[in-house]
Amino acid sequence: MSRVPEDIKTVPRHIAIIMDGNGRWARERGLPRTEGHRRGADSVRRVVKACGELGVEFLTLYAFSSENWKRPKREVDALMRLLQQFLKSRTPEMMEQNVRLQAIGRLHDLPEACQAELHRSISKTAQNTGLTLILALSYGGREEIIDGVKSLLESVEKGHLDKAMIDGEVFSKHLYTRYYPDPDLLIRTSGELRLSNFLLWQMSYTEFYVTEKLWPDFEREALLEALRAFNARSRRFGGV
Ligand code: IPE
Ligand code: IPE
Ligand code: MG
Repeated sequence: MSRVPEDIKTVPRHIAIIMDGNGRWARERGLPRTEGHRRGADSVRRVVKACGELGVEFLTLYAFSSENWKRPKREVDALMRLLQQFLKSRTPEMMEQNVRLQAIGRLHDLPEACQAELHRSISKTAQNTGLTLILALSYGGREEIIDGVKSLLESVEKGHLDKAMIDGEVFSKHLYTRYYPDPDLLIRTSGELRLSNFLLWQMSYTEFYVTEKLWPDFEREALLEALRAFNARSRRFGGV
């Protein structure tokens, strides 16, 4: 089932991707930005399939940030429509590929129809045992930390938690990502060297890989290239 090339010894357990460059991809072709997003959705399909085949356990895709709400309304609307269409049309494929869908972020900010479709896909795929695909939607790392702090305070106020017991592990259990391990590898497409408010707490020891490729051009071979780079890293976690 897992088709891993010989030269890739270690497959990361959790890969996180900042899927960037859809707008530039479209601009280079004189197309509207939304066309770039549409093609970006095809990259999502390819990467999900490849990660499933490689035996990756968790794949977190940054699909829409807290800050992306600042974009023109027509672009935001197009992205939300695309999300809804993607979920509707691709859930059967996720079932075939044994993919379990999850989502993180302030999901209540999404349009009702998107939320409904999202929850349908999440429950439909809940029993699948292959790749866990986590969509970060209306997601911001700082917002997540703030929500985590509020949730911690509530536990303390209700007497479920003693302040003295709070440590990194306890805090992690109050984040959206409480059920998932931290990412081993972060991939960012289109060359930007920043986190853009993605998984700030979780990425303290994640390996970063940035490619110039724009997201709609990212395919299986580009993913393998990232895995090869990951295999060449020496992860010390502060040790020797
Ligand atoms: C990433 O592509 C998709 C989202 C952020 C939703 P962009 O739309 O940011 O593309 P560029 O960065 O403008 O090229
Ligand atoms: C990051 O890309 C967010 C997503 C990929 C969803 P942006 O295009 O929004 O990031 P900046 O604005 O270049 O930092
Ligand atoms: Mg961008």
